[in-house]
Amino acid sequence: MRNSRISVLLLKWLLIVCQSEYHICQTSAHIVLQSTRFMSVLPGDEVTLDCSMAAGVRMSSYIMYWYKQDHYGEPIQLIIKENDKPTQNYEAILNTNDNRFSLKVSKVTAQDSVTYYCAAGHSEARTAYFGNGTKLTVLERDVKEPEVEILKPSGIETRCKKTITLVCVAEKFYPDHVSITWTLGDKEIKENVATDPYATQDKTTKLFSMTSRLKVSKKEFKPKNKYRCTVNFYNGTHDISDNTDEINGIEGISLDIN
Ligand SMILES: *[C@@H]1O[C@H](CO)[C@@H](O)[C@H](O)[C@H]1NC(C)=O
Ligand SMILES: *[C@@H]1O[C@H](CO)[C@@H](O)[C@H](O)[C@H]1NC(C)=O
Repeated sequence: MRNSRISVLLLKWLLIVCQSEYHICQTSAHIVLQSTRFMSVLPGDEVTLDCSMAAGVRMSSYIMYWYKQDHYGEPIQLIIKENDKPTQNYEAILNTNDNRFSLKVSKVTAQDSVTYYCAAGHSEARTAYFGNGTKLTVLERDVKEPEVEILKPSGIETRCKKTITLVCVAEKFYPDHVSITWTLGDKEIKENVATDPYATQDKTTKLFSMTSRLKVSKKEFKPKNKYRCTVNFYNGTHDISDNTDEINGIEGISLDIN
């Protein structure tokens, strides 16, 4: 009893944290599942986005919503909730037997290229659990895989500091369905990594670019250590992860310290 009170309070607190920043909370329990991270469609198409619940969680105990966010950092807006009448573009389809809640978007245009969030709410508790979101792109040009390059650490930095920064640049890709990972040998590096929260777009070519920075201590930056940057790209049908670049540590760099 006491424990469940505490966990409810904790979840409320997490939600408040999430709302006070503008991006969506991903720390709250994984109750709402959106298994499709990216989708690509052509203008004029009809698309259906799906949402389900974690094992053992019944959709019928919640009120289900679809939200959208135009760009990273912008507020999320409610589109439609369960049992709402369809609008010209949106229809919410609830199937409680299958624990499935869908959003049908018809006659898509470039304006529909946003991230859609499914959410489950308790009206009386004023809390909601969000899924991870599905980013939809209504294609405006042909698909192009990223070009990837790790920039060499700069001379000044290598002389004066105890760490060096490796910068991985992914560019000339479309759409922006990417994630960047770093590995040392065959182990993924999670710490000291800073990746842009979103890709930037060239207005004329519509191509995107994005960077990720990895800080490495000079002591670790040895010739036998191979650092690889992998840009995972979803091309509309396949996840492609062979766009990579790698760099080995440089002999003697650690001797520069002090
Ligand atoms: C949602 O995102 C988080 C953080 O990136 C991840 O750990 C989790 O596995 C994702 N959940 C689902 C259901 O994809
Ligand atoms: C996506 O990648 C697959 C596998 O490499 C390829 O067969 C397919 O043609 C690609 N699709 C596009 C739109 O580039």
